[in-house]
Amino acid sequence: MDTLQNLPYLSALRGEAHERTPIWIMRQAGRYLPEYRAVREKTSFIGLCKTPELACEVTLQPIRRFGFDAAILFSDILVPLEPMGAPFSFDDHGPRMHHTVRAAADVDALRVVDSREHTGYVAEAVRMIKRELGDRTPLIGFAGAPFTLAAYMIEGGGSKDYRHLKAMLYSDPALLSRLLDKLADQITDYLLMQVEAGVDAVQIFDTWGGILHPQDYERVIMPGLRRILAGLKGAGVPRVYFLKGSAPYLDHVRTLDAEAFGVDWTLDLAVAARAYPGRAVQGNLDPLCLFGSHEEIRRRALEICRAGRDAAGHVFNLGHGILPEAPLDAVETLVATVQAYREGD
Ligand code: CP3
Repeated sequence: MDTLQNLPYLSALRGEAHERTPIWIMRQAGRYLPEYRAVREKTSFIGLCKTPELACEVTLQPIRRFGFDAAILFSDILVPLEPMGAPFSFDDHGPRMHHTVRAAADVDALRVVDSREHTGYVAEAVRMIKRELGDRTPLIGFAGAPFTLAAYMIEGGGSKDYRHLKAMLYSDPALLSRLLDKLADQITDYLLMQVEAGVDAVQIFDTWGGILHPQDYERVIMPGLRRILAGLKGAGVPRVYFLKGSAPYLDHVRTLDAEAFGVDWTLDLAVAARAYPGRAVQGNLDPLCLFGSHEEIRRRALEICRAGRDAAGHVFNLGHGILPEAPLDAVETLVATVQAYREGD
């Protein structure tokens, strides 16, 4: 098998033996990096996402600085929504949808489009990044999970209580399911485009999937996930499902046909390893631990590495995205600790 496939990140996802625990971190390209802020000063966040040269440059920044074991395409989970008929922008408080999706007519008006035609700039960014990375570092493609995307569309942005989303769930669940089905079809096509363009793995981000009763998680959220995972099954790349707050749903999540599961810090990684036999796990240091002492960062990172030994494969990550205020030397300590860890340490 070629050198790229034998790198720790891809070996770990396949559950094959590898020398050391690979590490990358969610939001590794972003505002905690001075070199990112320098590029970002000259253009908007969406401008970055839509300009392949710039998306390529900021994707590579954290690889150059820290030597992470995987790069992740620089983009945002909301990108495929615009051509569906759900435009958005970003302000200081995060994403703002230009209109909400709450009535049946709003759902019907959304289109499932050809990703290559409408978001070709993402495929172009993938091709450029792959050329730069060569066989040295694998590239992760990604998309938002249908429920997490729907949360932004229905609420119109971030939300404290998901009132409108839950109002739809508890008054017209069939409408919510229709929205999730449409999103699942769009996301499947969007991820297939990324695979065709060259990504080596795909990750589905379900940041808000953890706010429902387990029965609702199963009935409402899982069908769309199954559709996406089935659509990608033959694509030849590992499929990683990250669910924030997954602890109450382990029995459901383990039935999903994915190669790896990402978990946050509210679950002991040893428990995750037992919950997902035969599959790789990814995680799970609290991003806020980076604000603690370096001694504590090292201690907790090693604890997680040791717990990961019980899984079929372990990819080290934070349990959620790194904060813009995170100190760079804390990230250095974390990467050095994880990359130096060997079985028995
Ligand atoms: O991980 C990476 O380095 C790849 C790039 C990436 C971004 N967003 C860049 C980004 C990825 C994979 C995402 C996913 C994403 N986006 C998620 C799922 C994962 C998660 O963190 O929960 C969600 C929910 C979003 C939606 C989103 N995008 C929010 C809520 C915000 C605003 C809050 C924030 O942290 O800024 C964004 C903006 C965003 N996405 C930035 C970056 C680097 C900051 C943009 C800027 O430069 O101002």
